[in-house]
Amino acid sequence: MCGRRASSLKCKSPPLRSDNHLLVGERIRLRPVDDSDIDQLHEWWNDPGFAGGFASDYPKSRTEVEGLAKSAWFFIIESRSGDNKIGFIPYYTVRQDYPYLFEIGYRIKPNERRKGYTTEATRLLVDHLFATRKDIERIESVTDVDNIPSQRVLERNGFKREGVLRKRTFNRGEYGDEYVFSLLRGEWAKARKLLQSKAHAEVDLQDEGGHV
Ligand SMILES: CC(C)(COP(=O)(O)OP(=O)(O)OC[C@H]1O[C@@H](n2cnc3c(N)ncnc32)[C@H](O)[C@@H]1OP(=O)(O)O)[C@@H](O)C(=O)NCCC(=O)NCCS
Repeated sequence: MCGRRASSLKCKSPPLRSDNHLLVGERIRLRPVDDSDIDQLHEWWNDPGFAGGFASDYPKSRTEVEGLAKSAWFFIIESRSGDNKIGFIPYYTVRQDYPYLFEIGYRIKPNERRKGYTTEATRLLVDHLFATRKDIERIESVTDVDNIPSQRVLERNGFKREGVLRKRTFNRGEYGDEYVFSLLRGEWAKARKLLQSKAHAEVDLQDEGGHV
């Protein structure tokens, strides 16, 4: 926001929040969002198919989308080579007076769903946050009680379901319940091992021609 001396100073819009790490996984990578992504984010945000059935926060103007990208740290989820933008995964502080608490969210293009990309993106982001921010104790995520894919992403990453937040969301003219999930720093190593052992089991089964 411009201060009182704005007339004598150049009043600039704040920059995008910047986490300058490129997080590279097995099939995808997380790239920090930059100004050239705003049009893509704007298009995605206004696409009901992209938002899925559980979002009530569209359509949004380009300015609002830019504001969102400035209020959270956003990573673009893209193919490992960087030639295909798949979706996004932001993280943000829940309360200013709780600096040890972060919330994450994610959205993926409909034609890229059910390929394990969000599970991998969540792993990359969680590892990055716990490894680089020693002050983070808890990462949480809130999801509609009927959003099974989102709940599976969190469970696969070792998040625990803590309880129901009643009538917390308002979507398509109705109030709905949500679950809150969390992963604590002390549970992180165990969660990572579980995810890796499941991934290895899947590779073994595929080698044997089985279904996973
Ligand atoms: C939620 C969302 C991000 C999941 O992304 P994704 O890349 O498809 O997730 P993954 O491929 O990593 O799958 C994770 C798990 O969910 C399961 N899953 C995915 N889509 C599913 C569906 N439609 N029905 C049932 N299970 C599903 C997968 O089988 C996998 O489970 P498994 O590990 O037991 O095999 C995606 O569906 C989406 O963008 N939805 C719209 C936006 C949204 O709801 N965001 C979350 C708001 S809290």
